[in-house]
Amino acid sequence: MSDPADALAQVAGWLADARSVVALTGAGMSAESQIPTFRDTMDGLWASFDPQQLATLEAFEADPALVTRWYDERRVRCAVAEPNPGHTTLAAMERTATARGGSFTILTQNVDGLHRRAGSVNVLELHGSLFAWRGVRSGEAAELPDGPIENFPPRLPSGEPMRPGVVWFGEALPNDAIDAAFEASTKADVFLSIGTSSLVYPAAGFIDTARDAGAKTVEINPSETPLTPHVDASIRAKSGEALPMLMSLMNRA
Ligand code: OAD
Repeated sequence: MSDPADALAQVAGWLADARSVVALTGAGMSAESQIPTFRDTMDGLWASFDPQQLATLEAFEADPALVTRWYDERRVRCAVAEPNPGHTTLAAMERTATARGGSFTILTQNVDGLHRRAGSVNVLELHGSLFAWRGVRSGEAAELPDGPIENFPPRLPSGEPMRPGVVWFGEALPNDAIDAAFEASTKADVFLSIGTSSLVYPAAGFIDTARDAGAKTVEINPSETPLTPHVDASIRAKSGEALPMLMSLMNRA
């Protein structure tokens, strides 16, 4: 399928007929909210540091002040970011789907909280959240200030060190989120992969589960990824532009 308008019209038709939709989102979903992606060379988060330097338990144990400061800077930046039209459209698609007795599930690799702030309800945060810090040993939830944390490394009132509630390299993803994501993927009529380089597993594997169960698979990304040759439709566009266009076509379907 060469013409982008054909791809949009076909995907809109699939979505209008679907009873169950799953959307896997990555950092590209929040790029239009001015939150850097991980691997885009121009402004990617990793352009300024080696991920192994900060996003691991070993790095945290070696220098908890450095790691927690970096994550808190991201938390504060995300707290003032605004959901973009891509986020608000996915929330509208969920409301439309549930109003007619269907289901709409977001599997997000993002830790920025923007899907929920846009109004999405059925959101599985596969890689945790920048806003859910906890005690390193007890797992006790930590209260965070609205603004930046003042003293690093931060501690609970008990004195126990605390960490950001995000998944670090080498750590397991939350079992309940993984199980729910697998379950939703087996029931999907349409699986959207939006704004992700499709490089990190198990998140990148749920589309295979959906495809094997008969779902139509769609990628929305301005660039090609390893997934591109394996989807039923590939929309080469920004999510903040493509998703509102899909919603508009769905409403006319
Ligand atoms: P990446 O930075 O790897 O990929 C971002 C993708 O978004 C790229 O394919 C871009 O082409 C695409 N993109 C950029 N702007 C876009 C836009 N406006 N609309 C749509 N797509 C756009 O980020 P992720 O795929 O999310 O894991 O990375 C996956 C995981 O790798 C992250 O969750 C993180 C990292 O390890 C953990 O931290 C555990």
